[in-house]
Amino acid sequence: MLSLCVSLDVTAIRRQFPALQKSEQFVYLDTAASAQKPETVLRAMDAFSRQQYANVHRGLYPHSDEATDRYELARESVRSFVNAQHRAEIIFTKGTTESLNLIARSWGHATLKKGDAVALTLLEHHSNIVPWLQLKEEKGIEVVWIGIDEQGHVDRKELSRILRKGNIRLLSMTGLSNVLGIRPPIADIIAEAHRSEALVAIDAAQLIGHHAVSVQELDCDFLAFSGHKVYGPTGIGALYAKRELLRSMPPFLGGGMMIREVRQDGFIAADAPQKFEAGTPPIIEAVGLTAALEWLGKIQWKDIEAHEAALMKTAYATLKTIPGVRILGPRRFEEACGCVSFVCESAHPHDLSELLGQEGFCLRAGHHCAQPLHEHLGIPASLRVSLALYNTEEEVRSLGPAIMRAVKTLIG
Ligand code: ALA
Repeated sequence: MLSLCVSLDVTAIRRQFPALQKSEQFVYLDTAASAQKPETVLRAMDAFSRQQYANVHRGLYPHSDEATDRYELARESVRSFVNAQHRAEIIFTKGTTESLNLIARSWGHATLKKGDAVALTLLEHHSNIVPWLQLKEEKGIEVVWIGIDEQGHVDRKELSRILRKGNIRLLSMTGLSNVLGIRPPIADIIAEAHRSEALVAIDAAQLIGHHAVSVQELDCDFLAFSGHKVYGPTGIGALYAKRELLRSMPPFLGGGMMIREVRQDGFIAADAPQKFEAGTPPIIEAVGLTAALEWLGKIQWKDIEAHEAALMKTAYATLKTIPGVRILGPRRFEEACGCVSFVCESAHPHDLSELLGQEGFCLRAGHHCAQPLHEHLGIPASLRVSLALYNTEEEVRSLGPAIMRAVKTLIG
């Protein structure tokens, strides 16, 4: 049962974000694209860069040892954040996109053969579509689509029918749509997929900043997310994969640190996680990610959820009062999380976004890297309001008159 009893001190939270201290109006409603960073993250990265920086897992001098400890502490922070059993199940990547590509390029390339299928839902972001289409071109695998209803609910009957076919080796799906804000019942779906012997990968790019995630409870086989969606830096993300899968997966990139031994005629790969972390990793970013997860860890999930649900209620109420606006996705605000997208019959999303931007309202317009979803909805583009724990109800409410002013300007 969703509680709207809000006990988050949003004023105090906002004070911790330098980007939110501008003197001019700045209503940031684009956290689904990237979250702003709290001071503690910026400071941690700055202090580490100035005083402790060195490459990791290479030097034998104390400075490098300390940097290595900080980097591995980040791995422990992520392990604990997603409740993985083993630290070696956490691979650092550039972000969700690289994590999903790693699954396709390593596990997919080594395991899948012609006739095997990967199932996706119509909610997916391009980063969870294109790597599988590439594999389809290269290896002749099938990519099978699972439909959704008009509110974005995954068609469970179709999913069951597809799983019964017996050739689905992997179901790769989002934990929270970056367009419709709908949250598929992934725990239930994972259990069903496992009964059909399909593995499951979760794109948690959006989910990770809005709800607690436990990979052990979900029992997912893979889970991908980005640091910059959890108030951390860009350039770092993670892939969780079950230990037994990582053991049999070949390296993704070749280079330094991913080997045990290299000779003129071959190499022996290191064990995970090093096997998948060729080259100098995102060290400063790992320090920033640790700080972000520590910061987020001090706030209770139930308070984040209650605050964001109250914001969503306001967003729905605000958008519903605007003539010509049609909300995409769930009819009830209680079913939406993180973002709500809409179209306006008299104005193109791009034009609206530009005019709103001139007033300091930051909203993403376009297909949000989810073209198959937009095609299914019969629209080329939409406008998206995305919410975070630093947004206020006043900000969301003020969007209503701003949209009406923009529409008036556009239609004259
Ligand atoms: N995937 C991010 C978005 O939805 C970038 O905007």
